[in-house]
Amino acid sequence: MKATKKTASAGRKPRRASRLSEGTANVVFDYRLEYEGRTPAHAVLAGPKASPERVLSVALSSQVDRFSRLYLGENLGILRHLCDDPCVCGKVSLVYIDPPFATGSRLSARDAEHAYDDVVAGAKFIEFLRHRIILLRELMSPTGSIYVHLDGKKAFPMKVIMDEVFGPTSFRNFITRKKSNNKNYTHRQYGNISDYILFYTKTSEYTWNRPYDPWTDAHPPKEYHYVEEGTGRRYMKVPVHAPGERSGETGKPWRGKLPPPGKHWQYPPAVLDEMDAKGEIYWSPNGNPRRKIYLDESNGIPAQDIWLQFRDAHNQNVHVTGYPTEKNLPMLERIIQASSNEGDLVLDCFAGSGTTLVAAERAGRRWIGVDSSMKAIETTLRRLAQGSEPMGDYVRGKNGRARQPALFHTGELQRSFDLYVAEGAVPPTPPAQCLRRWVDLFPSASATIFS
Ligand SMILES: C[S@@+](CC[C@H](N)C(=O)[O-])C[C@H]1O[C@@H](n2cnc3c(N)ncnc32)[C@H](O)[C@@H]1O
Repeated sequence: MKATKKTASAGRKPRRASRLSEGTANVVFDYRLEYEGRTPAHAVLAGPKASPERVLSVALSSQVDRFSRLYLGENLGILRHLCDDPCVCGKVSLVYIDPPFATGSRLSARDAEHAYDDVVAGAKFIEFLRHRIILLRELMSPTGSIYVHLDGKKAFPMKVIMDEVFGPTSFRNFITRKKSNNKNYTHRQYGNISDYILFYTKTSEYTWNRPYDPWTDAHPPKEYHYVEEGTGRRYMKVPVHAPGERSGETGKPWRGKLPPPGKHWQYPPAVLDEMDAKGEIYWSPNGNPRRKIYLDESNGIPAQDIWLQFRDAHNQNVHVTGYPTEKNLPMLERIIQASSNEGDLVLDCFAGSGTTLVAAERAGRRWIGVDSSMKAIETTLRRLAQGSEPMGDYVRGKNGRARQPALFHTGELQRSFDLYVAEGAVPPTPPAQCLRRWVDLFPSASATIFS
């Protein structure tokens, strides 16, 4: 389903784009974040490109669609390289990124192996991310969306950067996510249990499949407290008019009644007649119409911009890869369902353990993942091949093997993908024995090593 909201500028004489929007969204805005070392957007776009080389191809025999790609390497050059790829540039329907948060930490996986460093700080961090966002915008399709996951320290400056690159009218939501269980904080401040996701779209015509949360005992459908005589169906009553006067059909009298002052009917009188004939209009004793909304036709509660149910690994049964900062898989599944359609291309250039890629694979989307960490690529490959594992150590034997293998997920790969290596990868080329180990992860697929 496509949203069809009008652009903010529709019908108005276009103003001249300000100097500040140069090279980005050609939008007019009159503020920006100033700091030392800002590179003009055109120079960001024109910087050096990577030349990734394909090192591995994995295909499930029954599938011929060979698109999804995993890149090992520094994402800046790879994004520029993708800007030259006609299969990718302007074709990415959804971007989700969960970059480092400038925490100053060196992060290791659960097996104590080094994963990545999160040491770029201050203005350098803002500029680092701004460069990637400028390039990501180029790669997005006109109906594309981008979700940028950040913590409370960096979400606010990056909101200003996103306004600059995409234009303030492309801002859709500032989503607050509950990231963990409540904390018994010893600091003299409130427990820090939230992080934030900035949701922007490239234009006002974007893919949108509204997500719903199910009714629960905690949120029963209280509003549906009327029961229809004869059918027993539960329903709620809502106004049949909406704010704003209209001169067309919806501003005309219906059944001898004009809409209340300052309002218009939600439907033309002919449609209201049809609804009334089907019994979908409730008439109050003093003759005022209300629309009936039936519980059995409700998809649940339309999702709002506070997400409480997508905490990262929070109990021993949650399946994890062991990669640090691994995000909640159902959260990525929600984002992918809401902002892309089957067959669409999804991109995550800070892929980590591959949560976005797995969610995309499950939902029948094509994907591109990029990460400069060898540990991230290894984790993603293992996850595609074998799935993830329950977090609790209690399922592991002394030799590190699962005691209850039945609890393990099976592999996630359903189609095929190619692995590329580019400049900036550490080590620059995975050693041959490493490539062979990766191939062995997919015994039932046909895998080719390119040397
Ligand atoms: C917060 S983690 C992403 C975690 C991921 N969302 C998940 O669910 O596992 C950030 C990732 O970005 C990667 N990264 C950081 N800087 C990068 C760069 N310049 N190019 C490519 N990857 C980078 C790190 O190696 C790390 O895996």
